[in-house]
Order: sequence, then structure tokens, then C-alpha cells
Amino acid sequence: MLAERFRKLRGLAWRVMDGIFENMWDYKYVPIEIIARDSGVEEHKAEKVLKTLSNEKLIELKQTEYLGAAFTFLGLSLYSLNRFVRKNIVTMLGEKMGEGKESMVYNCISKWGEAVLKFHKVGYTSFKRVREKRDYGDLHYTVLMIRSAKNEFNALKKLHSKVSVPKPYGWEGNAVLMELIDAKELYKVRLENPKEVLDYIIEEVREMWKLGIVHGDLSQFNILVNPEGIWFIDFPQAIDLNEIETDEELRMAEEILRRDLTNLISYFRKTYRVEVDADRIVEEILKS
Ligand SMILES: Nc1ncnc2c1ncn2[C@@H]1O[C@H](COP(=O)(O)OP(=O)(O)OP(=O)(O)O)[C@@H](O)[C@H]1O
Ligand SMILES: [Mg+2]
Repeated sequence: MLAERFRKLRGLAWRVMDGIFENMWDYKYVPIEIIARDSGVEEHKAEKVLKTLSNEKLIELKQTEYLGAAFTFLGLSLYSLNRFVRKNIVTMLGEKMGEGKESMVYNCISKWGEAVLKFHKVGYTSFKRVREKRDYGDLHYTVLMIRSAKNEFNALKKLHSKVSVPKPYGWEGNAVLMELIDAKELYKVRLENPKEVLDYIIEEVREMWKLGIVHGDLSQFNILVNPEGIWFIDFPQAIDLNEIETDEELRMAEEILRRDLTNLISYFRKTYRVEVDADRIVEEILKS
């Protein structure tokens, strides 16, 4: 579906979308005049293209004191894909691997071979979002999708090669390109050595903490397993300890680490009757 929609779009449409993309941090709905100016497309032509894109649900038009445009999730995703395509980073879009509330995941062929393209649908809801609102004012929700993708990409960049996560290849708009891991979610697997796996997970979480990252949404749904190993995925909510500014934010990060570990440990207790003292582990990690 995405590939078909992609093929239908022409140069003029991409240029007009460039105009929205470049200005979406400054305007919740980017005025047509600005889009025309920045995309080098005449205003009446830009308006025509925008109306077509709006009928196709790729952008949202809003008339206030002026006529303005913003992306929809689908429009932003196609535009982000195009940024990868025109840089020759993604050469072919493959099958949809999944779509849920928070993302749409495709496999694709990239410069590095088969890979995963994850389109972010929501903005993350950590304390940083609160700070963002204060710093940036009223943003269109699609800007938050972009920040969420950026946050995931940055966390993967900090962790990969030191912690078991997919290799991050690139970030454009709301899309993150990363290594494809051929493995199943933890909740779908019956482990033969649950205690060993849990101990390994705890060591990796400790390593992430030392590298300054708290996952923020750790669970049996965001860990992939195969006979060769385990991988942590899904980092849009990750907290970077280096960006923390106040004691209150640090306390929140510690609480999120506690929640992550407690969730996982209770999953292992319920599923495998593995007993581990969550509080003790959290205290140990906080000290390391
Ligand atoms: N690098 C990867 N390699 C293989 N499969 C992946 C990879 N990244 C994501 N997936 C698959 O896509 C699913 C969704 O990805 P992820 O957990 O990152 O997003 P999500 O925010 O949970 O999405 P949603 O809430 O919409 O399901 C994963 O459960 C996994 O099956
Ligand atoms: Mg997930």
C-alpha cells in the first residue's frame, strides 16, 4: 500500500512537501506563501498540489487567518521514505512487518542489505516532552513523531556495539532505518534457560545505565530472542541521562529504570517462576 502511494507522487508534490518539512518547527500549519517561497513553486500551483495531497489524506489544510498545511502520519511517512530514497539509502520497500498504535514497521532493501524501516506514529511522553512544550510552544503532532524517531535513533547510536540492539543506519523525518533482527518477541517464546536470560537482560540494562540510557518501555514485547541471542528494540521513549538538567528529572529517570526492571522481573516470575529481588537490583544499578 505504502509503495503504491509512493509511486503515484511526482516531483512537484515532493517539493511542496519539502516546503512543509522545512517550516513545520516554526508553524503548526505552514502558510502556503511560505511553502511556495521555500519550494520554488508558484503559489497558485502549490495550492493546487496541496489540495490534491489533502484529498489523498497526506496533508491537512487549515484555514485560519491564512491557509496553512501540515502533514498527516501517512504523508510524513511517505515524505520520510522519499528522503531515504533520494539519497539512495533505501532502494526497495518490502512487506509490512507490523502496525500498531505507535508505529508502522516495514522491511526494505537498503545500502546495507535487508533492513527495517520504522515509521513513528506518536510523540514520546517522558518529562522531555513537558520541557519541549515549554521550549517550543504549540507544535503540530507530526513534529513530535519526528522527535520520537530522532530519540530512538540517538539512543540506538549510543548503545549499539556495546549493548545488544539493532544497528542504526539512518534517520529521516519520522522514520528510523535499522538492522533487521531475525528473532521473535520474548512473549512468544518458551525459554529453556529463563534465569540465564533474565540475568543477561539485567546486565545489559546496567550497561545501558552506565552509557547514560534508560529504555523507558522495557517489556516482553520489546525484547527479541533467537537461539543466538537477545536484542532490545523500541527506544522512542528512551531517556538520555546526559540531557538531564534537574534533580527532579534524575529522580524521574530512576523511577523509570525501576519500572522497566520491575515489569520485566515480574514477567519472569509469572511465566517461569524465576525469583529475583527487583529492589536490590535497582539499587545496585543506580550505584554503578
Ligand atoms: N530491528 C528489528 N528487527 C526485526 N523486527 C523488528 C525490528 N524493529 C521492530 N521490529 C518488529 O516490529 C514490532 C514493532 O516495533 P517496535 O516495538 O519498535 O514498535 P512499537 O512502538 O512497539 O510499535 P507498536 O506499538 O505500534 O506495535 C516489534 O515488536 C518487532 O516485531
Ligand atoms: Mg514495541
